[in-house]
Amino acid sequence: MRLHPTGKFDNHPTPSNVIEVRPLAAAMGAEICGIDVPDITDEQFAAVQAALFKHKMIYFRGQALTHADQEAFSLRFGAFAEDAYTSGVPGHKDVHPLIKEADDRSEMVFGEGWHTDSPFLPEPPSITILRSVEIPPYGGDTIWANSALAYKMLSDTYRRMIDGLKVHFSLRDVLAAAQGGAEQRDNPIGKLAATRGSAQLPEDLMRKIQGSIHPMVRTHPVTGEKALYVDSSYAVGIDGMTEEEASPILQFLGEHLVQHAFTCRLRWEPNMLVAWDNRLCVHQAFNDYQGYRREMYRTTVIGEVPA
Ligand code: SIN
Repeated sequence: MRLHPTGKFDNHPTPSNVIEVRPLAAAMGAEICGIDVPDITDEQFAAVQAALFKHKMIYFRGQALTHADQEAFSLRFGAFAEDAYTSGVPGHKDVHPLIKEADDRSEMVFGEGWHTDSPFLPEPPSITILRSVEIPPYGGDTIWANSALAYKMLSDTYRRMIDGLKVHFSLRDVLAAAQGGAEQRDNPIGKLAATRGSAQLPEDLMRKIQGSIHPMVRTHPVTGEKALYVDSSYAVGIDGMTEEEASPILQFLGEHLVQHAFTCRLRWEPNMLVAWDNRLCVHQAFNDYQGYRREMYRTTVIGEVPA
């Protein structure tokens, strides 16, 4: 099914005296201008947070930040979340490196399937913040899809059908893909690849494979907006349904959610800072910059049990 969202979402910025907001695409995304992130005032932060909830993904350019600056910005949204993949950089355990070296010829890159961050955890991170340091001359973009808009664009009948369903999220398939096609390296996917051939997986990994069950339609705890909570990387089943019953629903929703009309795409440059709300959008990275280095750092903000 292909539906155009005209009329179902308005990505105009809310007028503000303290920040300038420039929409990125019709469906979602916005650049925040006129702010040096380390000097953000409380009033500006309130406007930035409201812009994040409205536009689902926001970004700043020209922010040459330290790890400590990124930690401080992240902490304004809330405490750090558990990161499912890395244990941080030395001295900054909540700042997680996402670095792909130029000579890494892995067939897989971290985040390359459409996903919401770590939904296999009981309390998945609410917000993710990603900072760019080194960017390839081309490629390495990130693309997001507005899962609140995708929910709105379903028919009333389909919405009624899925409203009470619960999704089983697991790391299972991402782990299998990493074991199949990634080099063993000191990066999130390389660490998963290093478990290739292991007779016994660590308990922590077993917990993430076992995963969590969350509502397929979740309600944003601040704005009350409803959004699809499903993806094509971690959603492996529907609670109480057989695989044969669940697969067509998950496949349809996985495709419906990420159609072009619901997306925005960011061409990174160094010193950008991006924040997205995992309760309102899904995202995807690209493994299309072979031979070039990409260096990013991410922090995640604690979330709630999805409801
Ligand atoms: C992610 O999925 O969090 C990574 C996105 C990216 O590297 O562009």
